[in-house]
Order: sequence, then C-alpha cells, then structure tokens
Amino acid sequence: PRGRDGRWGAAGHGGRRRVRPSLLRGKVACGAGPGAMPGRGALCLGLLLPVLLGCGSAQPGACPALCECSEPAKTVKCVNRNLTAVPPDLPPYVRSLFITGNPLTDLPAGAFPAQRLPDLASLNLSGNHLRTVEAGSLALPALRQLDLSGNALVSLSPQAFGEGGSPLEELALRGALRDHGVLLSLARLPDLASLNLSGNHLRTVEAGSLALPALRQLDLSNNSLVGLRNVSFQGLGQLQSLNLSDNSLGVLWNSTLAQFRSLPALRHIVLGRNTWVCDCAIEDLVAWLKESNQVEGKEALTCASPDKMLGKALLKINGSDLNCSVPTDLPSQLQTSYVFLGIVLALIGAIFLLVLYLNRKGIKKWMHNIRDACRDHMEGYHYRYEINADPRLTNLSSNSDV
Ligand SMILES: *[C@@H]1O[C@H](CO)[C@@H](O)[C@H](O)[C@H]1NC(C)=O
Ligand SMILES: *[C@@H]1O[C@H](CO)[C@@H](O)[C@H](O)[C@H]1NC(C)=O
Ligand SMILES: *[C@@H]1O[C@H](CO)[C@@H](O)[C@H](O)[C@H]1NC(C)=O
Ligand SMILES: *[C@@H]1O[C@H](CO)[C@@H](O)[C@H](O)[C@H]1NC(C)=O
Ligand SMILES: *[C@@H]1O[C@H](CO)[C@@H](O)[C@H](O)[C@H]1NC(C)=O
Ligand SMILES: *[C@@H]1O[C@H](CO)[C@@H](O)[C@H](O)[C@H]1NC(C)=O
Ligand SMILES: *[C@@H]1O[C@H](CO)[C@@H](O)[C@H](O)[C@H]1NC(C)=O
Ligand SMILES: *[C@@H]1O[C@H](CO)[C@@H](O)[C@H](O)[C@H]1NC(C)=O
Repeated sequence: PRGRDGRWGAAGHGGRRRVRPSLLRGKVACGAGPGAMPGRGALCLGLLLPVLLGCGSAQPGACPALCECSEPAKTVKCVNRNLTAVPPDLPPYVRSLFITGNPLTDLPAGAFPAQRLPDLASLNLSGNHLRTVEAGSLALPALRQLDLSGNALVSLSPQAFGEGGSPLEELALRGALRDHGVLLSLARLPDLASLNLSGNHLRTVEAGSLALPALRQLDLSNNSLVGLRNVSFQGLGQLQSLNLSDNSLGVLWNSTLAQFRSLPALRHIVLGRNTWVCDCAIEDLVAWLKESNQVEGKEALTCASPDKMLGKALLKINGSDLNCSVPTDLPSQLQTSYVFLGIVLALIGAIFLLVLYLNRKGIKKWMHNIRDACRDHMEGYHYRYEINADPRLTNLSSNSDV
C-alpha cells in the first residue's frame, strides 16, 4: 500500500494528471514521472523492482479520460465511449490499442504520432463510422496488425501508412468499404501477409490492388463476386489461403484455374456457398476439382442451377450430364420454327402464283374453252327447255313427228 501511495504521489507531483477512476482501479501499474523526486523514485524501484522494470525512464502511465489502461498488458481500451477524436494523451507504453464503437469519422494526419507511440503494434479501430483516413495518420513504426472493419471508408490515402514502407502484416477490412476505390490504396504494403475483405459487396477486384508480394491469406468471402475472369492473382506469389465462399460465382474459367495451378503455395481454396451453374461450361472446373487437392471441402460443392441439376455434387458430374441447350432456350427455338414455317408457306404461295402467271395464256384458253363448253351446254338446255315449255312447238314437233 505504501508503494502504491508513493506512485500515485509521484504521478501527482509530476503535475501531469489528476487521479482518474481507472487509475484507482489499479489498471496502471507504474508512474515514475520525469518530475518525480529522486528519493521517491528510489523508493518505488526498491519496493516494486520486478513490476517497474518495464517502466524504465518512461513518462507516467497516465490514462486518457474515457479509456481503460493496463500497463502490464500494455493495452489501452476506449470502447463505446462517444469519442469523436483519437485521445491525444495515449500512454507511450501502449502496444495494443482498442478504439472501437466510437463516432470517429476522420483520421487526420498525425492522429497516431509515431514518436509518442513507438511500440504500438496492434490497433483495433473497428465499428467507428470512419469515412476518411488521411495521409500520415497511421504512420506507426511498429504497427503490425490493424482492424478497420465495420467502418464506412470512402477514402484511404495511399500515404496513410507513411511515405516509406509500412511494416503492417495483418489488415482487416470486413464490411468496411463504402467506396471500392479504397482497395487501390493497399498496393504499398510490402509486408502485408493477411488481408480480410469479406462482406464488402465487391463485384470484382481491380487487378492492381492485388499486387501484394507477401500476402499469404486473402479472404474475399461474403461478397458479390460473379466471376474471376478479370481478377488477376499473378501478383500473389506467396498466397497460401484464398476464401471465396458466400459469393455469386457461377463458373471458373480456364484462365483462373491456370492461375490457381501456377501459384505454388496456394493450398487452401474455399469455394463453398456459391451459385454454380452446371451446364457444359463447368466441365473444366469439374475436371480441375477432381484432379486438384487445392480446394477445401470440395465434396460439399453443389450445383445451384439449372433446376434439373440443383443440389447435385460438382464432383459427381460427368460429361453426359451437362447440357448447354438449357430449357430457357425453348421459347426462342419455338419462335425460330414459327418463322421458318412462315417462310416456307410464303415460298409455296409465291411459286403457286408464279406458275399461274407463267400459264396465264393456257389458263385463259382453258377458261374460254370451259366457258364455251358451258355456254353450248346451257344453250342446249335452254333450247330443250324452250321446246318443252311451248305447247305449240310441242304440237308442232309431234306433228312434224307425224
Ligand atoms: C456524444 O458527444 C456529443 C458531442 O460530442 C454529444 O452531443 C452527445 O450528447 C454525446 N452522447 C453521449 C451519449 O454521451
Ligand atoms: C477488434 O474489435 C472487435 C470488436 O471488439 C472484435 O470483434 C475484433 O475481433 C477485433 N479485431 C481484432 C483483430 O482483434
Ligand atoms: C456478410 O456481409 C454483410 C454485408 O456486409 C453483413 O451484413 C453480414 O453480416 C455478413 N455475413 C457474414 C456471415 O459475415
Ligand atoms: C471463409 O469465409 C467464411 C464466410 O466468411 C467463413 O465462415 C469460413 O470460416 C472461412 N474459411 C476460412 C478457411 O477462412
Ligand atoms: C472484365 O474486363 C472486360 C474488359 O477487359 C470488361 O469489358 C468487363 O466488363 C469486365 N468485367 C467485369 C465483371 O468487370
Ligand atoms: C481448358 O483447358 C483444358 C486443358 O487444360 C482443355 O482441354 C479445354 O479445352 C480448355 N477449355 C476451354 C474452354 O478452352
Ligand atoms: C455418369 O455418372 C453416373 C453416376 O453418377 C454413372 O451411372 C454414369 O455411367 C456416368 N456416365 C458416364 C458417361 O461416365
Ligand atoms: C439434357 O438434354 C436432353 C435432351 O436434349 C434431356 O433428355 C436430358 O434430360 C438433359 N439432361 C439434363 C441433366 O438436363
């Protein structure tokens, strides 16, 4: 207890901060300030040498308002605290910093000053309503792990991580991109080994943004990728794991399969929960699945269309199952057959008319003949009728017969 009093006293004497509730809760274990009297410092060291070794000549372990600090764990948490800016007085010992669930909208240049946070290695800024990350805001010499998930990033400066190369190794951008152009700013992360881009409604990935020579894990799951024809994985020579689950992939073409084959370290490709279209175009994918051991859980991949193939395992497909004249073609086929029928009928009609035209003289003659024949015939009838109808003529005829 005496040692503790001494330490709090030292912090107070340094005139840096009033005592905060978090300090009273004992979250900060050290506080030998530059203004502390030598005697007190010696007392502190004498009583708590093992604990204080880590503190060295550092500034007092002040903790910003609204944050919780633990110096032994080198951790500071400012969680769900209505912070609108990064606290300027973060303790310099911090290695692991959580500023999550706050209404931060902007990270200006120098939001995390490199000289005051030399050891900051893990930074969690998820769920903060962040829209812009400006040049130089994250230029931290020790930053290895950054979580920007659950923000609404519209712009991320290509110089956000400083002018030189950043040591960043792990970056999470789950559901973080409001504007997909942000991806283009990731090209300057030579040490990035893990990139999580899931849940971003991505329909395609710009070729240039995936030139990350050290990348080993890429998570593109839960997006809206409809195809990978335009996506180039060539710049990812170290890639080991690729998660493409929960997208809208219908087929993978030869060009993509060839890229997968050519990546030597790529051993874990996840393709589950996509909308595979099982027509003849999927043959190359099926052949690759059968021969390759790069795909995790390939037995569980199933067709989503056409209806006849719904739920059928991709691995169980063989060539004879695959139709490209899918039923949706039927109406158009019918339509073409109607058109064909119409053309044939029109041709027959035209030929008929032509024949009539060419034979017009013969037909005319024939018609005349028929008419004449009819007339003769009718005249004959007429004559006979007249004779039969006239009693005098009848008599005459009978007389003449006589
Ligand atoms: C959050 O901060 C804003 C201004 O910075 C203030 O108007 C608001 O009342 C605060 N909300 C809470 C819950 O503290
Ligand atoms: C960052 O914080 C969020 C919310 O607390 C958590 O879900 C997430 O796992 C953290 N990220 C990392 C990389 O630890
Ligand atoms: C998928 O992404 C959407 C949109 O970002 C998100 O709301 C949903 O929670 C994500 N689902 C999973 C399983 O992560
Ligand atoms: C791939 O992503 C899905 C959905 O986000 C997740 O459930 C699964 O665990 C991931 N698999 C791997 C190997 O990372
Ligand atoms: C793929 O690239 C071609 C031209 O290179 C373009 O016409 C097409 O729209 C692209 N597709 C997607 C999904 O971006
Ligand atoms: C895809 O490649 C295989 C050989 O690797 C070849 O047999 C097949 O015809 C190719 N498919 C297309 C559509 O070019
Ligand atoms: C296709 O697979 C079925 C079983 O799924 C099998 O009965 C059939 O003989 C196979 N056809 C060919 C041509 O391999
Ligand atoms: C493929 O088409 C033929 C007729 O063209 C049909 O009999 C067969 O059922 C179809 N198969 C599938 C799997 O759709």
